[in-house]
Amino acid sequence: MAPSADPIAVPARTCLAIVLAAGEGTRMKSATPKVLHHVAGRSLLGHVLHTVQEAGASRLAVVVGPERADVAAAARIAAPPAEIYTQTERLGTAHAVLAAREALARSADDVVIAFGDTPLVTAETFRRLRAPLAQGAAVAVLGFEAKDPTGYGRLIRRDGRLVAIREERDASPDERAITLVNGGLMALRGDLALGILERIRNHNAKGEYYLTDAVEIAGAEHEVAVVIADEEEVLGINDRAQLAAAERVFQARLRRRFLADGVTLVAPETVFFSFDTILSRDVLVEPYVVFGPGVVVEEGAVIHAFSHLEGARVAKGASVGPYARLRPGAALGEKARIGNFVEIKNATLGAGVKVNHLSYVGDASVGEGSNIGAGTITCNYDGFAKHRTVIGKGAFIGTNSSLVAPVRIGDNAYVGSGSVITHDVPADALALGRGRQAIKEGWAPAFRARATAAKKD
Ligand code: UD1
Ligand code: MG
Repeated sequence: MAPSADPIAVPARTCLAIVLAAGEGTRMKSATPKVLHHVAGRSLLGHVLHTVQEAGASRLAVVVGPERADVAAAARIAAPPAEIYTQTERLGTAHAVLAAREALARSADDVVIAFGDTPLVTAETFRRLRAPLAQGAAVAVLGFEAKDPTGYGRLIRRDGRLVAIREERDASPDERAITLVNGGLMALRGDLALGILERIRNHNAKGEYYLTDAVEIAGAEHEVAVVIADEEEVLGINDRAQLAAAERVFQARLRRRFLADGVTLVAPETVFFSFDTILSRDVLVEPYVVFGPGVVVEEGAVIHAFSHLEGARVAKGASVGPYARLRPGAALGEKARIGNFVEIKNATLGAGVKVNHLSYVGDASVGEGSNIGAGTITCNYDGFAKHRTVIGKGAFIGTNSSLVAPVRIGDNAYVGSGSVITHDVPADALALGRGRQAIKEGWAPAFRARATAAKKD
């Protein structure tokens, strides 16, 4: 029998991620904590928590500042298993990590330290950072070549080995010339992490407990590795300009991904996505379209220019816009058509439904093949509660109609243009809810004569 080619199953290494989020973020000049600001529709902290889980972190600890119940709550929503620890005094990055001492004591094979304000690091990079630990390294540091190293910790190497990280304030002029710097993130071997962190002292220019000192301490007895990343990935966010820069980078990634997956973006740089946007292949997106969170667009659908979608599903072959707005709960059936200046909210539209011009359809369902004329409004709100409009299949709603909910329009019924519909319309019926037209023959010349005479007086 030929020997089996199966690789020997290696048990996956367990991983604890500690996310530091105790920063004050004063430079954001915001009532919202820094890590709760958004990039592509998800908080900075949400991005980091999501990425470390994707990179295999089975346990999560988030370190928050004192009285930051909002950050703790957001962390629990973004990642329910997250344990929350409070750093009561801000005494440095190692001190912050040690706030999660309890989590460290119940160790894992790998410990990864991430920053809550550094949202662009990819899962792939976190995995690369963990890799040297499996090869026996005690510590792995994420470094990058900085265009301008000012403010970063410099990676000090001797004979090609990393021996220390020197913070800007403590660095000699020679050391300051080094451009290979610390991205801030670190991975430590779980069985050694607590011992290393507890030996860190605060004998430096700032009087803080520096996580970066882990390198020198571990390096005395163990191997220490450097993993190189792109500068773009380790962009940390301290102010609104950096927040906008992170948005730019993230949007560029999303656009590249959609193009690679078979989506046509006519002018990619003008289209904005959410972290969770799902577009199938052969979707076509025209210029200047914004996708808020929770949008799914199926194969072959077209999103015309200047449309805004959020919390919406667009089925195969449907067409949206130009200038359309799909709000949360909008669900368009196959080949449905939503035209210009149409708003759809919390409404299910069957296959082939047309709402081509200037309409609001909210809290409604519309059966397949129905045609909603220009200027139709579902009057869903009475100032206190929302009410539903139910339209059957194959119905025809004449232009400029108001459908006062709760109301039902039966299958294949007609509503005459300009109607205000307040009672249910049976299937196959015609409903007219408007003043009857009156004709006064010869009225106009008589009126003009009277009016002209009155003006001369
Ligand atoms: C840190 C690194 C530096 C690296 C840089 C990359 C240290 C000592 N220095 O410096 O080598 O080049 O990141 O951006 O680690 N935090 C807390 N509690 C604290 C202190 C910090 O939660 O007491 C959090 C911050 O909110 C932030 C992160 O830790 O998310 C990093 O702290 P920050 O003050 O930005 O460190 P840097 O001086 O930038
Ligand atoms: Mg920083």
